[in-house]
Amino acid sequence: MISKSIQSSKEAIYHDLQQCRRGTFKLFADIDHDTFCSQAHPDFSPVGWHLGHIAYTEDLWLLQRCAGLPPLFSKYHKLFAADILPKTQRVFLPAFSEVEFYLDAVRKKVLDYLEVAPIEQQERLWRFMIQHESQHCETVAFVLQMQRKEEGRRKKEEGRGKEEEGRGKEEGGRLITDRQLPITHYQFPITDSPAITIPGGEFYMGSDAAEALDNERSRHLCYLEAYAIDRYPVTCGQYRDFMTSGGYQNRDWWSAEGWEWQKVHLVDRPLYWSENPAFSNHPVCGVSWYEAEAYCNFAGKRLPSEAEWEKAASWDATNQTKLTYPWGETRPNASLCNHGNHLANTSPVDAFPKGASAAGCCDMLGNVWEWTASTFDAYPKFESYPYKGYSELYFDGEHRVLKGGSWATFPQAMRSTFRNWYYPGVRQIIAGFRCAK
Ligand code: AVJ
Ligand code: FE
Repeated sequence: MISKSIQSSKEAIYHDLQQCRRGTFKLFADIDHDTFCSQAHPDFSPVGWHLGHIAYTEDLWLLQRCAGLPPLFSKYHKLFAADILPKTQRVFLPAFSEVEFYLDAVRKKVLDYLEVAPIEQQERLWRFMIQHESQHCETVAFVLQMQRKEEGRRKKEEGRGKEEEGRGKEEGGRLITDRQLPITHYQFPITDSPAITIPGGEFYMGSDAAEALDNERSRHLCYLEAYAIDRYPVTCGQYRDFMTSGGYQNRDWWSAEGWEWQKVHLVDRPLYWSENPAFSNHPVCGVSWYEAEAYCNFAGKRLPSEAEWEKAASWDATNQTKLTYPWGETRPNASLCNHGNHLANTSPVDAFPKGASAAGCCDMLGNVWEWTASTFDAYPKFESYPYKGYSELYFDGEHRVLKGGSWATFPQAMRSTFRNWYYPGVRQIIAGFRCAK
């Protein structure tokens, strides 16, 4: 009995490791050396660095710390460790094929070790490793999106054709491809997002499941007064109203900090903005927390707290139970939400009715990350795992929590309790928001 369950959790981990890795290599399928090595933005490492860092981290935690093996490829340690080189020094990278060789060598030993590993004591660490890779891959997708936008801008400047064979048409960093076409069942346009009332009461927040990261723990009861939250994230069509009525110019909608930020960074539209009406029903994306805040003020609404977001996403009030995903316990798949680079773009906010939460909110997981009003803080009984620098160093009262995941989030890093965090001024992360009241 016992050995059977050990066997099945090893098989599940084996499957997830390999599935995640296939997703990783898919992202790098047709990337040239220049794209591999160059920094798209000072706050982000080159995509090739992330790839090497994935191998380095797997070697460090699973092979060195758990299996007690000597380090593989010591020549790469300084380059691929998390906190040795500044990002500007991470551009001198080996070729993709060499980094691939490094990944394969580590992975082969990891799979050998999995066969003998005491998985009952290590499940949490293995689950962490899969999510570590997933999250770096999502950052890779963000960086590629920035590079694509930049490439589109350069081409336009040079007067070359907008249409690129096989890759679709680029519009302000939003790629219009025929992968968008199969989704035809959405209403058009969504003028006002119907609000859903969540009655006051308790719910369970956070998670103690094996896959839960340190910042999701521990699961605790949380009481919320009644509130209303929108069924959908704010769409480009809605956001266009804010822009055309002078939203970026009107001081009234902005906090002092937000106004200052907007002036310093000369921001007058989302980073990934397109005037193409094909996007009217897609969520706005590429906005900072400050822009989300300003829009909410304009609309007479506010951002939800992370607790409000999580309750609307995961609490089944009828059965008084907490669901792992808005739709229940089925793992994310392409018919439930827009994730895992299946579409490699945003989708209409009402394209996944099967993915709705018990409360009736749509698009809670996938499509775009959603900013919440909350700063990133520890839950009761928080303990750093596996190291302080994963979450604890970011409990500084500055970072804001994002929920839900984007079209680039890997399925293993998607669930209602998952917390992401960035500074409020970051716009390069495929983030939008939904409103509450
Ligand atoms: C949670 C996405 C903000 O990429 O900075 C990866 C995740 N931490 N390796 C990041 C992470 C260490 C983290 N984010
Ligand atoms: Fe990392």
